[in-house]
Amino acid sequence: MSATKPKARSRLTGLSVKTGLISHPFDLENGVRTSGLVAARDLGTGHRHQRHATAYYAIAPSVFHSLIARWRRTRGVAPLEEYTFIDLGAGMGRAMLMAAEMPFRAVLGVEFQSSLARIGRNNMAQWRATGRAQAPMRMYCCDAVEFPLPAGPCVVFLFNPFGEPVMKRLLARWSTALKGREGQLDLLYVNNEQDRLLRITPGWHRLFYGPIKRSKFDLAADRSILYNQPGAEYAAHTFEDCAIYRWKGSTLK
Ligand SMILES: C[S@@+](CC[C@H](N)C(=O)[O-])C[C@H]1O[C@@H](n2cnc3c(N)ncnc32)[C@H](O)[C@@H]1O
Repeated sequence: MSATKPKARSRLTGLSVKTGLISHPFDLENGVRTSGLVAARDLGTGHRHQRHATAYYAIAPSVFHSLIARWRRTRGVAPLEEYTFIDLGAGMGRAMLMAAEMPFRAVLGVEFQSSLARIGRNNMAQWRATGRAQAPMRMYCCDAVEFPLPAGPCVVFLFNPFGEPVMKRLLARWSTALKGREGQLDLLYVNNEQDRLLRITPGWHRLFYGPIKRSKFDLAADRSILYNQPGAEYAAHTFEDCAIYRWKGSTLK
């Protein structure tokens, strides 16, 4: 009996050299795989929320670190060690990997594209094997709206993963789920296209709003990557508009 030849793994458009991939220095330095640009139409999840997804593209490390530093200067309800970091729309986990270098209680990711989630899990294994992970990490493959927030203080990271309809559903869900949990959810929002929704939803208090600059190094890397994309659809700017929110619930004055 002859063995069946395993089927070649199909690659998402944007994750192969043929479809424009150039590796970000973050990957080359750390031996992980987080680079690439996958347009929303190519995510191929078959999920009802896919049409509201933006695209896959990983966060610039310098923007992530600056935003985390700003958040750490706000007075949270507990020390960092008691917070669970959650990336909604985690992709291949670049933000999770950087978060796991801090002693969070846990670092969780939620990604509905199964190939991206699988690559993310491999990256985490690499992070653990090289002793970079200070926090336990776990990637869930499901819709961000369906993901129940864990108990205790949480900080949710959003790198503009989805548009208004999904953001609205998420905020409505949280308004119910967070009753009695004032101060227990902070939101770090990069490329905050749906910021208006947070401003009009009762219970959210804005702690920061403004541009966060990419380092020169990240700008050069992102520009060379995005210049190479086939459709020239996306651009890398010198900064990302960002916001930090805290759930104050009914106690909000
Ligand atoms: C801009 S990428 C951000 C990747 C990652 N957070 C980072 O910073 O490196 C947005 C990701 O959100 C995912 N996404 C979009 N809508 C989603 C949803 N409703 N549920 C889960 N993941 C979603 C996309 O598949 C994509 O991988």
